[in-house]
Amino acid sequence: MHTSYHINLSAAEIEGATIAILPGDPARVETIAQTAPFTNARLLTQKREYCSWLAYMEGVPVLITSTGIGGPSLGIAVEELAMLGVKTMARVGTCGAIQGNIHVGDAIITSGAVRMEGASSHYAPIEYPAVAQHEVVQALIAGAKQAELTYHVGITCSTDTFYPGQERYDSYTKYVPRRFQGITEEWRRLHVLNYEMEAATLLTLASVMGLRAGCVCGVIVNRSRSEAISAEALRAGESAGVQCVTLGIANLIRQERE
Ligand code: URA
Repeated sequence: MHTSYHINLSAAEIEGATIAILPGDPARVETIAQTAPFTNARLLTQKREYCSWLAYMEGVPVLITSTGIGGPSLGIAVEELAMLGVKTMARVGTCGAIQGNIHVGDAIITSGAVRMEGASSHYAPIEYPAVAQHEVVQALIAGAKQAELTYHVGITCSTDTFYPGQERYDSYTKYVPRRFQGITEEWRRLHVLNYEMEAATLLTLASVMGLRAGCVCGVIVNRSRSEAISAEALRAGESAGVQCVTLGIANLIRQERE
């Protein structure tokens, strides 16, 4: 029985799961696995940033695996999950909104992502688009509607750094290199909705591999108004993402049965 080196899983352990939900944070995996309509949730393994639970939705096994922060770490998880037979991947995370009409606790469903990270360029030239798969996007929209969330669908900017790449001045040096000075206003003018750190890698890799992927992030800060992230905002954003992805994946499973 071959066990994947990083995520520490074998094909037998995932019981034929072809759908995976991918939060960044290992601490969020159990929360998702224990959320209705999931049943029979159990811990499979925990190694480094990769924690995996298996849960069932209407008799269908769904793997919930954390990816850690950023493209390199997520890329490893996507490679190893694909080799185990996973075909559909839905990232759920948190993000900083950059448009004034988006609020903490809203959900942002990514239609495509700006590849401001590096990992995806190891898989495809930079001209290759990072786009979400339409059935996964539709399922996440249905999930957001069912959960009665305020949601937005559009372009996400994925970066390799939380501080300079997202033009944060509240860093150790307080300096943002010239390359990134003013970039948030530029993305805003180009109708980019949010910053996060994994969507572009996931969407590029999934397309390159011929797999389906999508991404929803709960908003935990609006960068037009503040840099600080409160505990309450984090709770609101996390809850929006989890509701959207669990109901969204339930929709996907149901649709595929029909
Ligand atoms: N995650 C990010 O990458 N940026 C934010 O502002 C919030 C969450």
